[in-house]
Amino acid sequence: MMLRHSRKAGRRLAKATCLLTVVLFTPACSDATVNIQSALHPASGDAGMITRLWWWMLAGGAVVLAAVLVALGIGLWRGRRNGDHSPSFRLGWGLVLTGGVIAPLLAAVLVVVFSVRIGHSVTTEAPEPYVTIDVVGRRWWWEVRYRDAGAPAGDEPVAVTANEIHIPVGEPVRVRLHSDNVIHSFWVPNLQGKADVIPGQVNELWLNAGEAGVFRGQCTEYCGLQHALMGFLVVAEPAEAFDEWLRVQAAPAVEPVDPAAVRGRDVFMESACSACHTVRGTPADGEQGPDLTHVAGRRTLAAATIENTPGHMGGWVADPQNVKPGSLMPPTPLGPQELRALITYLETLR
Ligand code: CUA
Repeated sequence: MMLRHSRKAGRRLAKATCLLTVVLFTPACSDATVNIQSALHPASGDAGMITRLWWWMLAGGAVVLAAVLVALGIGLWRGRRNGDHSPSFRLGWGLVLTGGVIAPLLAAVLVVVFSVRIGHSVTTEAPEPYVTIDVVGRRWWWEVRYRDAGAPAGDEPVAVTANEIHIPVGEPVRVRLHSDNVIHSFWVPNLQGKADVIPGQVNELWLNAGEAGVFRGQCTEYCGLQHALMGFLVVAEPAEAFDEWLRVQAAPAVEPVDPAAVRGRDVFMESACSACHTVRGTPADGEQGPDLTHVAGRRTLAAATIENTPGHMGGWVADPQNVKPGSLMPPTPLGPQELRALITYLETLR
């Protein structure tokens, strides 16, 4: 009877362990091509240095924990055996000085020295960036403005997009961080350490991907209701592919020809959409929401919250609060025909 019970419990434990493993190690984004968002899977030289520091700190912490446990074990064993709980005065003070003062000081100094050295290396400017990107933390999404390498922040951007940052592999990219609302924090753990996005101040960081891939980033400073869903993707691709992507992004929207798409464009221009969103090459020049000139070419919607499919787009436009409660995008009251036409138009914006 006992044996059967313990077997059952064992099977349950195995099942629970399997489930936990699946939950813990499945990337949050369902898109299988997005790398797992992790500082322990570095894809750049800078992230590699940060990862190595993390492993050294973990190893150091493990050694200290083991030493403390061994000392505790020895103390308990000797105390019980001798019936004497007070070690000799000199031994006691030697242990307190070594374990309580010298060793922690040494560990703290080592951590500070290596942190400062690595912090300095990852923030050192490259001589000439391949491209400069101004990233603006909005509520709760990321505006991305591409500029020529040396352009000052006031210049007209070459292209504007949202929540998806493309960068060339193996080339230094300067990212300038801005906010006109609250404090956010920009973090792509696979590629770089984090940097705060502070109103009234421009912080900079450098991205230099060592390999091609799609990496998820995340706001890491609590900034309000949708902080947890303020994500973005960084797409690292060969320089030629990046140049081609930027050329497409810089172009104005293509005029629709399909009658349903033409009808959809009219719906867009006549409804609240055009008051909040820009579609370059059309009268729509709103600045509240993301630039939609090439929205259909992006992988995700709602700041990396849902995959960019026509179905998701329809659901998002009709009821944004259902996807992101508290989102600043209001629902768009449209009939089914109008909504279908609108989605047909948005799908032409590639
Ligand atoms: Cu933006 Cu948290």
